Amino acid sequence: MPVLPIRQYPDPVLRTRCAPVEEFGSDLKRLVEDMILTMHDAPGVGLAAPQVGVELRVAVVDATAGVDPEAVRVLVNPEILDVAGAATDKEGCLSIPDFTEQVTRPASVRVVSHDLEGEPYEIAADELEARAIQHELDHLDGVLFVDRLRGLRRQRARSFLRRLRSLEPAVAGGN
Ligand code: NI
Repeated sequence: MPVLPIRQYPDPVLRTRCAPVEEFGSDLKRLVEDMILTMHDAPGVGLAAPQVGVELRVAVVDATAGVDPEAVRVLVNPEILDVAGAATDKEGCLSIPDFTEQVTRPASVRVVSHDLEGEPYEIAADELEARAIQHELDHLDGVLFVDRLRGLRRQRARSFLRRLRSLEPAVAGGN
């Protein structure tokens, strides 16, 4: 069970719309185990498959960041059923290190997901867990939390991301 390297912005895999999981077997189980390990190692409260270079609709969430093993949520082909309220809180992303911003999202969420055997089950979440689930679901559609920002917060994010892009080594002719 290795800790996987986490892809960083502007890696194009972070902008992919991921494909649904169709095979519920040992490969999926291994991927999820490695993702949980990688999330806890970071440490983070969530991780989506494209962040480890896998373009599948898989994510893991642990609002306790490794404190409570029972708190780990495995999301396979998740869909939002409904949301309620609104909440604004600080958010960051393992793929955009050293940048956090206040993000407004629905305060609670109900999701239908599948377990590792392909059986559907429902999750009802609020507070940090609801935020993390929505953040990870966005990743599966190539959406980053900075895309959710407006106004001055968006301006700050844009200049931070511009700096990250300028640090990227040139693709052609670079060394
Ligand atoms: Ni993220």
